[in-house]
Amino acid sequence: MSNYHIKHLEEYFQLYRKSVREPENFWEEIAEEHFVWKKRWERVFRWDFTKPEVAWFEGAKLNITENCLDRHLYVRGNKTAILFEPNDPKEEAQYITYKQLHARVCKLANVLKEQGVQKGDRVCIYLPMIPELAISVLACARIGAIHSVVFAGFSSQALATRINDCDCKMVITSDGSYRGAKTTDLKGIVDQSLESCPGVKSVLVVKRTAASIHMEKGRDHWLQPLLDKVSDVCAAEVMDAEDPLFILYTSGSTGKPKGMVHSSGGYMVFTAYTFKNIFRYQENDVYWCTADIGWITGHSYIVYGPLANGATTVMFEGVPSYPDYGRFWDVVAKHKVTQFYTAPTAIRALAKESLDFVDAHDLSSLKVLGTVGEPINEEAWHWYNNNIGRNKSPIVDTWWQTETGGIMISPIPFVTPTTPTYATLPFIGIQPALMDEQGEELMGNQVEGRLCIKFPWPSMARTIWGDHKRYYETYFSTYKNMYFTGDGALRNAVGYYRITGRVDDVIIVSGHNLGTAPIEDAINEHPAVSESAIVGFPHDIKGNALYGFVILKEVGESRDRDNLRKEINQQITEHIGPIAKLEKIQFVPGLPKTRSGKIMRRILRKIASQDTDNLGDISTLLNPEVVASIIKDAL
Ligand code: PRX
Repeated sequence: MSNYHIKHLEEYFQLYRKSVREPENFWEEIAEEHFVWKKRWERVFRWDFTKPEVAWFEGAKLNITENCLDRHLYVRGNKTAILFEPNDPKEEAQYITYKQLHARVCKLANVLKEQGVQKGDRVCIYLPMIPELAISVLACARIGAIHSVVFAGFSSQALATRINDCDCKMVITSDGSYRGAKTTDLKGIVDQSLESCPGVKSVLVVKRTAASIHMEKGRDHWLQPLLDKVSDVCAAEVMDAEDPLFILYTSGSTGKPKGMVHSSGGYMVFTAYTFKNIFRYQENDVYWCTADIGWITGHSYIVYGPLANGATTVMFEGVPSYPDYGRFWDVVAKHKVTQFYTAPTAIRALAKESLDFVDAHDLSSLKVLGTVGEPINEEAWHWYNNNIGRNKSPIVDTWWQTETGGIMISPIPFVTPTTPTYATLPFIGIQPALMDEQGEELMGNQVEGRLCIKFPWPSMARTIWGDHKRYYETYFSTYKNMYFTGDGALRNAVGYYRITGRVDDVIIVSGHNLGTAPIEDAINEHPAVSESAIVGFPHDIKGNALYGFVILKEVGESRDRDNLRKEINQQITEHIGPIAKLEKIQFVPGLPKTRSGKIMRRILRKIASQDTDNLGDISTLLNPEVVASIIKDAL
């Protein structure tokens, strides 16, 4: 039992050493003592990063929803599992107990079965942050269908790409969504997508805004009448530990998003174990992660990790600025939130507003604060620590990725001393390595390099849906026998890790990962555009913002530049979504290219960041003259 809840630093080091020296014994104990399995595993894990092939708890049988729901029914059946806080503070919060959640999941699972969804089928979930989103995720898991949640801010084209890539046969959506003062016609977006998704046979529609929407006969069904007709008993499908649980798309350096595939046994063990320790969850706590379930943070630390621990997890439908900038703190005070987990971009946005928004609320319930998604700058860290944590709630700066499934590097609160901007130490079982550009591991402390992980962990993604070769090439081909994260990091004198940012063509804007290639592809489809290049530049609130360098075709030359800028952003909104809009667009006569035709993004990044005094080596440029002209007109 003692291994499950780490209480002091010495214990952390002991367990860490054990997890490295005897990983089988270590993980076997955790898996055995804290979860319910229908059949025990034959082998704790197996791995070969050269293929890559990784399996955890192979041979074991389970259903993750029995661990998240059924086993809590007798111990804490009347405890709130999901605490739903609606967008409009005047609408009442909902307290869904474990018993009620179990019944609602079983009912929806029965509806899915009735609609012909079977084990292994893919179901796309395109919903706002309402309870039905978590319920849909769990209902899929209940019957062994693979859920693919698409963030409801993605455009119809982005949704269609994701539906088609994994061949979903069903979409679960709602009539509309509320976010702040805005209402969005989600069903209209789904209808548009489905024009190019012939594989989708049925659409289930949750009523949220009661907007009048089109219902396609034979394909679309209101969910409630179907739920009314089915039983609230649904036996959990028996799954192999290695069966896929879900697919979640993340941006890549080529146009096509990568459908990361996560399996169920290892994912459950790792997300639950990290949740318990990194948030120091205790039975009567009220835990709130402000992410959307459309991202990995929501999957692992709103749904699966908390529910596997029998926690009360808050689901918030709204935004931090509605009805005013005090909303987060209002929710914390109202529900006596004990753990609060958010993104640096939200902290920076709130830190810009008056402290009155904070001071008007009683935040004394808070015990642990967390951040995720991007590096947190020192100023934001101190603001969070002083004003929200009142210097007494430790901040866990958690580093991880869609691909890693769970938190990899993070302090353990009240155990690991924190240092601003440092994610500090690897979690139990995680073996990071810093590599130099020649592929050598940098040993010792006070080194900076590329962050890799040299040993498997239970919740790592197993493949990219339909493209195992790409999985290998993206993550396992750069450094031999290593998982390459795409991030740079440094290790300081005491061995703490600090993540310095992406070293590839992914840019993190407001905590969202955006690949440059899909945005460039979207822009290049504009009839007036011949070529484009996107880079990131520092932004006070968003962390990074996007700067586009665009070469026009002759037809574009005579056009009004501001209109063109609007059209280009519109184009991006349609292809991807508003999160990928460009902050600045500069029209240029050419792009700096190497003799082999590669765009030298390094130079463009310097120009976008107004740091052009030292451009570095430009001797390999094919067209150096273009650089001076771009600098002259830089925005
Ligand atoms: O660059 C790192 C950054 O976010 C990337 C992963 O993004 P995504 O797959 O969308 O998952 C985000 C939520 C887990 C990483 O490669 N990142 C994430 N957390 C941190 C971070 N950068 C610095 N500090 C962090 N705590």
